[in-house]
Amino acid sequence: MKVLIVGSGGREYSIGLALKRDEAVEKIWFSPGNGATDQLGENLSITDYRDLADFAQREGVDLTIVGPEAPLVDGIVDLFKEKGLTIFGPSAQAAQLEGSKIFMKNFLARHGIPTARYIETGSLQEATQFIETLEAPIVVKADGLCAGKGVIIAPTREEAVQAAQGMLSGESFGEAGSKIVVEEFLDGYELSVFAVCDGKDYVVLPAAQDHKRLLNNDKGPNTGGMGAYAPTPLVNEEIYRKLDERVIRPTLKGMEAEGMPFTGVLFMGVMVVKGEPYILEYNVRFGDPECEVLMPLLKSPASELFYKAATGRLAEAKIEFHDRYAVGVVMASKNYPYGSSEPAEIIVDEIHHEELAANSHISYAGVSRDEEGRLYATGGRVLICVGLGESIREARDRAYMLVGQVHFVGKQCRTDIAWQALEA
Ligand SMILES: Nc1ncnc2c1ncn2[C@@H]1O[C@H](COP(=O)(O)OP(=O)(O)O)[C@@H](O)[C@H]1O
Ligand SMILES: [Mg+2]
Repeated sequence: MKVLIVGSGGREYSIGLALKRDEAVEKIWFSPGNGATDQLGENLSITDYRDLADFAQREGVDLTIVGPEAPLVDGIVDLFKEKGLTIFGPSAQAAQLEGSKIFMKNFLARHGIPTARYIETGSLQEATQFIETLEAPIVVKADGLCAGKGVIIAPTREEAVQAAQGMLSGESFGEAGSKIVVEEFLDGYELSVFAVCDGKDYVVLPAAQDHKRLLNNDKGPNTGGMGAYAPTPLVNEEIYRKLDERVIRPTLKGMEAEGMPFTGVLFMGVMVVKGEPYILEYNVRFGDPECEVLMPLLKSPASELFYKAATGRLAEAKIEFHDRYAVGVVMASKNYPYGSSEPAEIIVDEIHHEELAANSHISYAGVSRDEEGRLYATGGRVLICVGLGESIREARDRAYMLVGQVHFVGKQCRTDIAWQALEA
């Protein structure tokens, strides 16, 4: 099987790594990939999706997997399908579950899926009236894609009104904020649950938890994610069952009934309040860094999971996961997340410790390679050190042992990834 992976991050690298160890896969391309994905396959510099589809047709690509949300919302899946190509991901219409928070909230409401009480509005007056009825803190969300920055948790009603005003005036997020969602604050703990869906059937992956804040003890600014681990002990059979019955099934049924069957990764942002799961949001692709800890837990061939899902045949697949734990620690560049950083050469010490070598690896993200083959950190989240083990502690220890083998000027990482699981 020949596979094309769209994207350039650690998420796409980890999907590539999973496909690399799959005997059914003979060739992998990345578009655009990064300075390390060229060790797993071949990088392409084709930016236009039509040209990319032409390439896929010409080269006989059997399966295309889309990592990030932007190409999905832009309709890359529709374009590939028009040409008769097999591609894993939702249509542009279905991707609105992520592309528009209003679409998502109204969909949840139509299908009775538990979520925070809300209104959608383009009027400051309406927003203010609703805010008056809520207890602080109050959540204000821009409708459109804002690269993870479009949600404000306002500690007071006044600040909620200010946030709504900033968004509605276009000041905060431009067009993406011209309509907003105002909702009640849910006080609980958060989970990321991923289901790989083929339109009708689905496979639920081990629940993961990510760490959004830059610093230990969940302090500092929000980031794209500084680490993740799975499976998390914060989820139990009962929560899985409730998610299954109240969320995943009605979502797939609802999307099908509304003429946009959902194929791809349904990423459920869940808040558990007193044992009851509520949907905070949907994303329509894997989280990054969650993907980097989930892919190594996949026991079945990765091509089987993605190909069967893309062709509506998940029911005939038996997808299995290792009964193990994975912990991923992100190493970021010096000025992350505030600004760019000078390129810095990455040195990874040779790992002599056999057990560590066999149970850990790096997924590369913000890296480039020079002509001599030297690897450089080019900014943002540079790489993620993944440790595997029979317990979270063992997996975590291995991830941090690997972190100790990686050197570049200005490197930063959290030292407390998976703390919730270790305290639980
Ligand atoms: N109703 C809510 N109650 C409490 N916290 C919330 C609520 N909605 C969002 N949050 C917090 O804000 C974060 C971002 O919101 P989310 O809806 O996931 O938007 P996005 O990921 O697009 O920024 C969530 O991960 C959660 O921590
Ligand atoms: Mg989110």
